[in-house]
Amino acid sequence: MRFFKLIVLLSFLILSCRNQNSEKTSSSQDDSAKTSESNYKEKFRPQFHFSPPSKWMNDPNGLVYNDGIYHLFYQYYPGDIVWGPMHWGHATSKDLIHWENKPIALYPDEYGYIFSGSAVVDKTNSSGFGTKDNPPLIAMFTYHSDELVKKGNNDHQTQGIAYSLDNGDTWTKYEENPVIGNDGMMDFRDPKVFWHDELNKWILILVAGDHAKFYHSDNLKDWKLKSEFGKNIGAHGGVWECPDLFRLPVENGEEEKWVLLISINPGGTHGGSATQYFVGEFDGETFTTNQNDIKWLDLGADNYAGITYNNAPNNERIFIGWMSNWLYAQKVPTEVWRSAMTLPRTIKLFSDENGYYLKNYPIENFSTLYSSKNNYSNEIDLKEEVTLDSSNFSAVDISFQMNLSKDLQLEFYNAKDEKLVFQMDSKTSELKIDRKTSGLTDFEEHFATNIKPMPYNPEDSIVEVRLIVDEASMEIFVDKGKYALTNIMFPTENYSKLKLTSEDDTVLTNFKVNNVKSIWNNEK
Ligand code: FRU
Repeated sequence: MRFFKLIVLLSFLILSCRNQNSEKTSSSQDDSAKTSESNYKEKFRPQFHFSPPSKWMNDPNGLVYNDGIYHLFYQYYPGDIVWGPMHWGHATSKDLIHWENKPIALYPDEYGYIFSGSAVVDKTNSSGFGTKDNPPLIAMFTYHSDELVKKGNNDHQTQGIAYSLDNGDTWTKYEENPVIGNDGMMDFRDPKVFWHDELNKWILILVAGDHAKFYHSDNLKDWKLKSEFGKNIGAHGGVWECPDLFRLPVENGEEEKWVLLISINPGGTHGGSATQYFVGEFDGETFTTNQNDIKWLDLGADNYAGITYNNAPNNERIFIGWMSNWLYAQKVPTEVWRSAMTLPRTIKLFSDENGYYLKNYPIENFSTLYSSKNNYSNEIDLKEEVTLDSSNFSAVDISFQMNLSKDLQLEFYNAKDEKLVFQMDSKTSELKIDRKTSGLTDFEEHFATNIKPMPYNPEDSIVEVRLIVDEASMEIFVDKGKYALTNIMFPTENYSKLKLTSEDDTVLTNFKVNNVKSIWNNEK
């Protein structure tokens, strides 16, 4: 018995020592983040996409709307511009356009780093952490223990929760963490929680290597495993990560369907990371689908680990993704910070003779950032090539209508002849992006050439084509996001010319170029 007490005392001493250490590391890292805080004017700094003030960022986490505030938490390492011990960084917004940077929300502790996860408003105080009058925000995340990794038992990822009683400003970790342990699953992470009205329960979906697992809970602390999905379906060229599950009406039909997002790395279409989705049914316990093709949310190389908001007003499904790719994310040529998020996008579900498909398209109020419109002609006839000049094609939203069955090529370039090319090749039915000479590319061997042509259906119909450029990214939306292509690039000076050509003499109508204001209150 005395021996047992000694062991307990020793473990306590070791644990508290470790705790103090981790607090120390965290606060010194925090200071280093502050001293290098930026004014958002650095080279390649996005002007209207969210990026952290400084240091490393990856996945969006804990997207939740509460009391007029959209929260954006994110995987954050305040100690360097490469991935490291993960924290949850935090920013808030009232309109999903302007962001306010907040202090770090969650720090690593004795159970490990704080990996990706989600957040909910516990309206009925089912967890007991708050009161009915002041319902808590609950974050659920993965603990990743580096110490256990070193022991090699494959039980290093467990799930924990934390709560906030002041709408996300401060967080307290649950003292009985972890709430879901691990009995030997190498990859076991990225919990997405949501409330299921009919079932009157919390649903949790997380991923375990090659499949997703579904759980139920009444109080967000005790979880029961209900089912699994995915071992023999979909893309499996890498580990499944960052799942999301939500219900959507079919816009051009009567039904409702469930959509399951699964990010995968490696094994994406362009190498590295990408996000696939499944459309099917979820009866509260089990997800099923008749889908047998692989569907990608975005046909570009740089939209990963995206998830959607819990609780968004008007039942909207709003998505934010990480605008990078693990192939080269840690090498991109920025110095103060690394990476940005996609614009928030509304996700809608449609169907046609080939089955169900998603459209993802920037939220409507993005247009509130337009500053001035350029005076280009409303109609551009491409019997001959046309070159447009601008002082800045690096902060613009360009849109026009065209017949999807016609060929079109757009070349953005600057005085150094760095160029980014987008081609809608109706002959081969392929959408092509070429960033070989788009600017800096040699920081990583795949970056210049990894983007592959992606198939599309050049049907005979007039659709909108929209391109949003923000310094180091281009988001392209064809037919309101039926085909979305997100890619990053690093031109060493702004693109100042846009050359348009078409082998089919296509005519672009309703042609608009809107300059877009910075959201960071600076003069850039
Ligand atoms: C996806 C991911 C997640 C994990 C996090 C760690 O990019 O690998 O699966 O939780 O990043 O930062």
